Amino acid sequence: MPDVYILGIESSCDETAAAVVRSGEELISNVVASQIATHQPYGGVVPELASREHLRAIVPVVRQALAEAGHTYDSVDAIAVTRGPGLAGSLLVGISYAKALAFALDKPLIAVNHLEGHIHAVLLEERQKGNHELEFPVLALVVSGGHTHLYLAEQKKEGWTYRNIGHTRDDAAGEAFDKVAKLLGLGYPGGPAIDRLAPHGDPEAVKFPPAQIKHRDRRGRKDGRALEPDVSLDDQRPRFDFSYSGIKTAILRYVETHEMGAAVEARRKALASMPKPKVEDYLANCDKPTLDLVASFQRAMVEDLVEKTLAAARAYDVATLFVTGGVAANNELRQTFEQEGAEEGLPVYFPSLPLSTDNAAMIAAAAYPKFLAKEFAPMDFSAEAGLVLR
Ligand code: KG4
Ligand code: ZN
Repeated sequence: MPDVYILGIESSCDETAAAVVRSGEELISNVVASQIATHQPYGGVVPELASREHLRAIVPVVRQALAEAGHTYDSVDAIAVTRGPGLAGSLLVGISYAKALAFALDKPLIAVNHLEGHIHAVLLEERQKGNHELEFPVLALVVSGGHTHLYLAEQKKEGWTYRNIGHTRDDAAGEAFDKVAKLLGLGYPGGPAIDRLAPHGDPEAVKFPPAQIKHRDRRGRKDGRALEPDVSLDDQRPRFDFSYSGIKTAILRYVETHEMGAAVEARRKALASMPKPKVEDYLANCDKPTLDLVASFQRAMVEDLVEKTLAAARAYDVATLFVTGGVAANNELRQTFEQEGAEEGLPVYFPSLPLSTDNAAMIAAAAYPKFLAKEFAPMDFSAEAGLVLR
């Protein structure tokens, strides 16, 4: 099989990214333009600003990815782009540019699900390390700012298939990190700040009640069936759903009842005046009760994610576990998964830190099996903000 060079383009949220990947197994270039500085003053992603920033960045980012790979527009074999899920306006920028390139260059166009991309970030790096022998079934936890989803992933002759066996009923784990950081005046995005501060607090200081999932999942469906249509109704095996809005509310109450509001506001102002606060800057602005709260929050999140994922791994008797998406960059999450996975004899794989958060290498990697299967996208396909993975 000759080498296949795919140019990947990703613009689903607040990162404009392009990458060149060879045959789904070698990362040749990987360029990510972050919009953190644009959204920071608002404490979260502002969709209109995100689309505008993608428009500014898309052409130079793609050019840089090609140049760093030693490629030209003409020398790549296909163009892959994220179709969804994500912000519609942001997705459209990447999709329109990818279509224009594919049309002008007469190259195949491949549409990729962003969540499938996160799963293929792990596969790409394992192949790059020479590990071609992953054992199936694979369970993948995709844990990011928009998703906390468990998928059983299978490689069949006609390509990869995915079955959702659990998802968050409300906030995604990354969203909880971001909201709690905002509540504590730690700025945006919250995950990395909490990750760096947690080792300085006592994770046992504050106890949170475990998330209660009492109701059947009725989101998005009038008939009360599960949101993910790929879960067969006759499958009696349990689902493994998550819920993180309760812990966020618990932190809000804690801040109120412990009268931490004034300190939070002072911290928010102090950190907002610094372009890139270092860990010492955070520590200089956090008292012990705040550090303890941060550490306890992270511990509760990690315990819940690890416990449910490992319970799902046992229930479905999987041979391999992937943990991927922005929150997979979290140090305590990685250590706990590694330790508890090892205790159960379950191999756990993570992407490297640059490929944990949003990037286009994962899109180019996920596109490779579709290229082989000639699964090309028609020129009239559109962005799908709520695209389901199956
Ligand atoms: O995968 P990603 O880049 O974008 C989405 O698809 O959502 O994930 C971004 C999310 C944000 O919520 C961010 O706070 C979280 O990942 N995150 C982290 C860490 N780094 C990024 N959460 C916890 N610990 C981290 N080190
Ligand atoms: Zn993502």
